[in-house]
Amino acid sequence: MRKTLFAANWKMYKTPAEALSFVQAFRPLVASQTRDEIVLCPSMLSLAPVLDAVKGSNISVGAQNMHSSDEGAFTGETSPIMLKAIGCTHVLIGHSERRQYFNETDDSVNLKLKSALAHGIVPIVCVGELLAERETGHTSEVLHRQVGNALAGIAPEHTAPIVIAYEPVWAIGTGKTATPELAADAHLTIRTTVAGILGRDIADKMRILYGGSVKPDNAASLLNQPEIDGALVGGASLDPASFAKIVNYTSF
Ligand code: PGA
Repeated sequence: MRKTLFAANWKMYKTPAEALSFVQAFRPLVASQTRDEIVLCPSMLSLAPVLDAVKGSNISVGAQNMHSSDEGAFTGETSPIMLKAIGCTHVLIGHSERRQYFNETDDSVNLKLKSALAHGIVPIVCVGELLAERETGHTSEVLHRQVGNALAGIAPEHTAPIVIAYEPVWAIGTGKTATPELAADAHLTIRTTVAGILGRDIADKMRILYGGSVKPDNAASLLNQPEIDGALVGGASLDPASFAKIVNYTSF
């Protein structure tokens, strides 16, 4: 009942020309795909050309970040109005790299989430524990706090399109993937937390993606878990054939 969603997080990779050649190669590889929703998140500079290149296809385009304000004196930032104006439908919020290197906090995540919802942009909110937090048994507590703060003050009727991405920080770009069971367990914690805040019905409908070293050869075993509703893919989404293999995974 929850449509699988695959989002490519290209981070600070690919010039606009490289982004375009990706789309040219990738589009035919997923053209017949109706089971999944596909979102490409290129750099801000490549959003417009990628949006143009995916026109008429089953591929959507999202930003990797946005400011929470509609406009203002915020040098270097991009507003939800600007994203919306060019046709961007999704946005990543609170990726761990933004939390780690750009001082994003649970509070800024909450503001951005509210702003994305107000503008009708589907937020993909990233949460996940550090290695030290997992090793000291604090994973549930961290997820509970991050999800609770992200959703603070959000009315249940405004939550339909929220997507959460569980990305254990120790699994991002490291080649270490959470086992499917461990990921499913974290997803259950997140869903239970969402149910406590927004109600069981909304929690059951909310898609929770897994992210952290998802590759063509581990996608199926992760996606086979009923709790895992898709993936946020970094490294393996940079190559069209590799990302297409993930999107076209065979369920078992
Ligand atoms: P990875 O990145 O797939 O390269 O681990 C995932 C992410 O950061 O979203």
